Amino acid sequence: MNKILVINGPNLNRLGVREPAVYGTDNLQNLEEKLQRAGRDHGVEVECVQSNHEGVIIDWIHEADEKFDGIMINPGAFTHYSYAIRDAIASISVPVIEVHISNVHKREEFRHHSVTAPVTHGQIVGLGLYGYELALQALLQLRGK
Ligand code: DQA
Repeated sequence: MNKILVINGPNLNRLGVREPAVYGTDNLQNLEEKLQRAGRDHGVEVECVQSNHEGVIIDWIHEADEKFDGIMINPGAFTHYSYAIRDAIASISVPVIEVHISNVHKREEFRHHSVTAPVTHGQIVGLGLYGYELALQALLQLRGK
């Protein structure tokens, strides 16, 4: 297949203007283009999607099963309470890596818990946008395993 899906959840379309002290000044389009270039360098197609809507994200997760080699997802605030996204991830068999730009553990208490992490392959937290590049490397390694 050689395809990887990048899902960004709510408010991540606001990257670059949203709380720059927390999330940096780079925008989502630049991030997506960087991931696509990095994918091409490895012969992999990287598809990037973003939604502020839980059901849309759930549909993408379902559809990705068997169509992609791996998924990286930043579920945004859904991380902390969406059992529906958690169950969607649990329902598929391709590896999923959860990414958080900020170090959620240094922030408000409600961000310390992820309901989605237990059903993912792994989690990358607090490394800024670089975390997505690391997730891509990890998914490339996991291909076909
Ligand atoms: C986030 C952390 C979440 O707590 C927050 O709601 C986000 C972004 C991160 O990437 O650091 O929207 O997932």
